[in-house]
Amino acid sequence: MRPAGARAQRRRQQQELQDAFRNNSLEIRNRHGQQTREQAAALAKKYEKPVFGSCQVFDLIRRLAECVDPTDTGLFNTSQLVHTLQVVESMEDSGLDDAEFKLVALVHDLGKLLLLTDEAPENITCLNRPIGAFEPGVGLDNVAFPWNHDEFIFSRLKDYLPPHLAWLLRYHSIELGPSEKYMDERDREYCENYLLRFRPHDLGSKSPFRLPRIRLESYRGLVEQAFPERIPF
Ligand SMILES: [Fe+2]
Ligand SMILES: [Fe+2]
Repeated sequence: MRPAGARAQRRRQQQELQDAFRNNSLEIRNRHGQQTREQAAALAKKYEKPVFGSCQVFDLIRRLAECVDPTDTGLFNTSQLVHTLQVVESMEDSGLDDAEFKLVALVHDLGKLLLLTDEAPENITCLNRPIGAFEPGVGLDNVAFPWNHDEFIFSRLKDYLPPHLAWLLRYHSIELGPSEKYMDERDREYCENYLLRFRPHDLGSKSPFRLPRIRLESYRGLVEQAFPERIPF
């Protein structure tokens, strides 16, 4: 075959792979959107006990290198460790020199380590919108959301972090449109001061082509200061 023909075939193959990734992502997102309150409660119960044993948080971050989010069409097969470094680097580049935000960036997607287990991806990934309707202003803690990696990491780290950072982990993937009306005063304050400042870095830095310049090792001190001991994970 002539080189031009081989190139065209290669391009077609790449396009097919990209379409397949997008279709699979859509199917997973549809299934995530169908999670019921009962299923969310059952998943919360299922994950009460440690899955990975007693772990150093820094080692868990390193294991994100093995994780690919099959729904993320901003990253494709880019690892969650690269995503994590992209988020931290985005903060560095924008001058957000705040240890709390960087710490949250480093740990926010650790719940996606469940992708390394046999858990269905629709129970781990995707943005979250409320299941059903609630009283306006009732507070997000009283709203049912699909169980996903947010709730997992919240449950694991909430006892080691101040309330606003635990809140940010828990609600980092809520869709603001359908969730905002259920926020109480505390949620609104945390949303404005933390989620709205975190999200542009989390969602806005994603790219399969952005090669991080920073090294995870430079953040070991920050992580080990916040989590000096092994924790049940
Ligand atoms: Fe996330
Ligand atoms: Fe993320």
